[in-house]
Amino acid sequence: MIQLVFATNNTHKLDEVREVVGNKFHIQTLADIGCTDDIPETGDTFEANASQKSTYLYSRYGCDCFADDSGLEVAALANEPGVYSARYSGTRDMEKNIDLLLHRLGDRPDRAARFRTVISLRIGDDEHFFEGVIEGQIGYERQGNGGFGYDPLFTPNGYVKTFAQMTPSEKNAISHRAIAVAKLADFLKTKF
Ligand code: IMP
Repeated sequence: MIQLVFATNNTHKLDEVREVVGNKFHIQTLADIGCTDDIPETGDTFEANASQKSTYLYSRYGCDCFADDSGLEVAALANEPGVYSARYSGTRDMEKNIDLLLHRLGDRPDRAARFRTVISLRIGDDEHFFEGVIEGQIGYERQGNGGFGYDPLFTPNGYVKTFAQMTPSEKNAISHRAIAVAKLADFLKTKF
């Protein structure tokens, strides 16, 4: 079986990846390899952060691995919050982050936004990137209780529900992360 470490301890992400990648691959988490390091994430792009994390793991632990980085890009705000999505307001409090985003957008009619995920896969010295994007619109107020992060504000184009109003399987069928993970899975299946 092919072993790969996923630079996360987030069980939701892990379950999603395991399901898509299939059982030919044994996907381990940071906890599984005993990594409790605070892995640096200081880049100013999703690519840089994903790469920084996978490169760190590869150089310290010598394992084939992958890492992801995601966030929300709002066109009218010069693609903010971007890599700062998790701490936009200076805290990890998502209510404050959402309030700040709504405040910055005000009543502007241009509410186009997209969620983006970038995965960096390191196999030996080779690095491969996989990207997933979903375009949508930011609402004027929160709608729905599901999901996490900015989900209550984001309605994908062509849909009437926000991510937070969708079931997990509805969201996972179309999300930025699912798209990037599907590309990773396709690559792994053709390579191994
Ligand atoms: P991460 O890199 O996947 O941990 O995502 C960083 C931040 O982007 C999260 O803390 C959320 O604020 C935001 N984000 C990423 N993906 C999503 C999503 O699917 N829904 C809502 N917010 C998200």
